[in-house]
Amino acid sequence: MAEQKNILITGGAGFIGSHVVRLFINQYPHYRIFNLDALTYAGNLENLKDLEGKPNYTFIKADITNQDKMHEVFSQHDITDVIHLAAESHVDRSIADPTAFIYTNVIGTVNLLNAARKQWEGNFDKHLFYHVSTDEVYGSLDDGGYFLESTSYDPQSPYSASKASSDHFVRAYANTYKLRTVISNCSNNYGPNQFPEKLIPLCIHNIKHNKPLPIYGKGENVRDWLYVVDHARAIDVVFHQGKDGETYNIGGFNEWKNIDIVRLLCKVMDKKLGRAEGSSEQLITYVKDRAGHDLRYAIDATKIMEELGWKPSLQFEEGLEKTVDWYLQNEEWLEHVTSGTYQDYYQKQYN
Ligand code: NAD
Ligand code: DAU
Repeated sequence: MAEQKNILITGGAGFIGSHVVRLFINQYPHYRIFNLDALTYAGNLENLKDLEGKPNYTFIKADITNQDKMHEVFSQHDITDVIHLAAESHVDRSIADPTAFIYTNVIGTVNLLNAARKQWEGNFDKHLFYHVSTDEVYGSLDDGGYFLESTSYDPQSPYSASKASSDHFVRAYANTYKLRTVISNCSNNYGPNQFPEKLIPLCIHNIKHNKPLPIYGKGENVRDWLYVVDHARAIDVVFHQGKDGETYNIGGFNEWKNIDIVRLLCKVMDKKLGRAEGSSEQLITYVKDRAGHDLRYAIDATKIMEELGWKPSLQFEEGLEKTVDWYLQNEEWLEHVTSGTYQDYYQKQYN
């Protein structure tokens, strides 16, 4: 008989979390999935509309900074495993105001570790705490080399410092209390449901509305892009096959300069919107650089590929086209998330 689990997925109403929740609900009908999310500006239940009413799905609105509530959730639902994604995730917001990043990313993670430790005491070998992290903890690369699992941590922004701190706490709980843990560090994700504060959906939204495309600095910073569904597939593989206490880097060996991505997006969208070739490129506007802007991220994903047999399923051009199609077909979603407080954020960040 298939093994029964009560899995707490945190941050499941966000971008990556919603794809992870969907994959687990559909692929493992014998697991009970509890999606815990505070529904901050980045959390959106519209991301999970297709899952409403599924018998193995429960949504819990709660804040991971509330320790008592976390204890209550673990004991009330007899949580057996955790996949922890809830976080403040946007670098620019962390530069404008780091405090929320420390509360959610550091203290929130420690609260979950404490709740897991209490609930699973005396039985740690049967339970897993999976912490989802980022390649930004490794810092910034020059032109050569890759981030390996053994690369020293060197976070450069308040966001990456808070994620690095949470990774350290997860490892400390594994070492000190013998909690079973696993961590993955992934590169930049793109795809449906990403909040339009991040480069790709922000540019899709602005191209659609003929608004300037803000490129920080010279647009020469490099990121390594992975389609979000491929990240969710990797999380599935690490959750089920990852070795206790290990770290897995996740990435697509797919490096792009920001300016080249934006040019490609313009080309794809000119075609889809029936505009003259080259017209959206006129919207490209170079703006003040991000403070402390990391030059280059590049993940060496050999370990997860060779040891766990995972590999990306999509080429970037194909994934980008699917992403553009999704945003063009989901106008209402985009309208909802860009009304209200998004406008205030946009004014502050770009004017
Ligand atoms: P997101 O901002 O889209 O979603 C974060 C979710 O967490 C939201 O639903 C939000 O409501 C929820 N949340 C925030 N604070 C909370 C709190 N205090 N209590 C409960 N819920 C809270 O983020 P994302 O891009 O989907 O990233 C998910 C995770 O993956 C994060 O841990 C992030 O560090 C990591 N990650 C992201 C990327 C990327 O490219 N987006 C890459 C690697 C790793
Ligand atoms: O590497 C993984 C990380 O990727 C995740 O941990 C973060 O949660 C996620 O936000 C992402 O961080 P980045 O800072 O790399 O993503 P962002 O989309 O904000 O920016 C991508 C690049 O584009 C970066 O070099 C900054 C640049 N940029 C971004 C914005 C929003 C611009 O040039 N203009 C913009 O308006």
